[in-house]
Formats: sequence, structure tokens, C-alpha cells
Amino acid sequence: MAETREQHDQSIKDALMKQNAKTVTVLSSLLAIQDSLGYISGRAIDQIASYTGSTLNDVWGVASFYTNFRFSPPGENFVEVCWGPTCHLLGAQGVLDCVLGELGLKEEGDTGDRKVSLKFNTCLGACSQGPLVSVNHKIIGPKLIGDANPKDFQNSVVKIISDLKKG
Ligand code: FES
Repeated sequence: MAETREQHDQSIKDALMKQNAKTVTVLSSLLAIQDSLGYISGRAIDQIASYTGSTLNDVWGVASFYTNFRFSPPGENFVEVCWGPTCHLLGAQGVLDCVLGELGLKEEGDTGDRKVSLKFNTCLGACSQGPLVSVNHKIIGPKLIGDANPKDFQNSVVKIISDLKKG
């Protein structure tokens, strides 16, 4: 069931109040809300401005500067494909092509049914295990799931994504 406006406002307020940073700033507030709600809504911008004593322009300025903030609700599942230098050398392009094809996307973004949000990542932090994909924050790589060659891994990733779409 969709969140009501009152529930959404309360979720924003809770995220703002729970910050345990020594200094609460526009950036710390944006991060707290994105962590808690998954995105920054227009109502969140309003509340951050009033909570931090900033202008709406100041808050939008910070929010739009960082590419990691999103301004619409994320899909049910979150997939990241690493295309950092090491993963690129280890075959990330083939994995990326398969993922885009399976999701019917041309670039990072959300599927039309909002089942999956896809994001490219510049390093998932385990380069030696590459090429890596993260599915709902679980890291998957050929060595990690026992796939012997790049094609097997691509097929495994496609199957995982296909199951996400059905789930
Ligand atoms: S470059 Fe992909 S995990 Fe580091």
C-alpha cells in the first residue's frame, strides 16, 4: 500500500531526528533521508530546509550536486554493475550488456514496472573477484558463485535478474 502524505512526512521527520552526526548539515540530512527512504522527495527538500535553517535553493543546490541522490522512489530491487577499471578488464562490458538487455534498459535507471533499479558503480570494492554485480547489496562475481567462464557468469546474472523481475 502506498504511503500517505502524513506517513511520508513522518518518515522524513524520523530520519532527520535520528541523525547522530555531531554536526547536522544539509548534506548529512540528505544522506539520512536517502538512507532511510531510498530517495529525496520534494517534501524532504522542504523539511530539510526548515530543519537546517537553509533556503530551498541551498538544499536543491547540494542535492543536485551529488549524483548519488535520487529524486524518485527506487524500484523494488536494486542492481549495480561495476564498470570500474579492473572489472572492465575482467569482462564487465559483457555483463553490463546482458543486464541491460534483460532489463530492457539502454542505461542505468528503473524498469517501467519499477521492479528493478539499475545503477553503474565505479568500484564495488572487491576487484580481484570481478567482474562484479551487486543484487540488493549482495555481491556476485564468477569466482564467488563458481562460474568457470565469462559466458556462464553472464547466464547466471541473467537468470538472477529474470527471477527478480518475476518476484
Ligand atoms: S573495479 Fe569492480 S570491484 Fe573494483
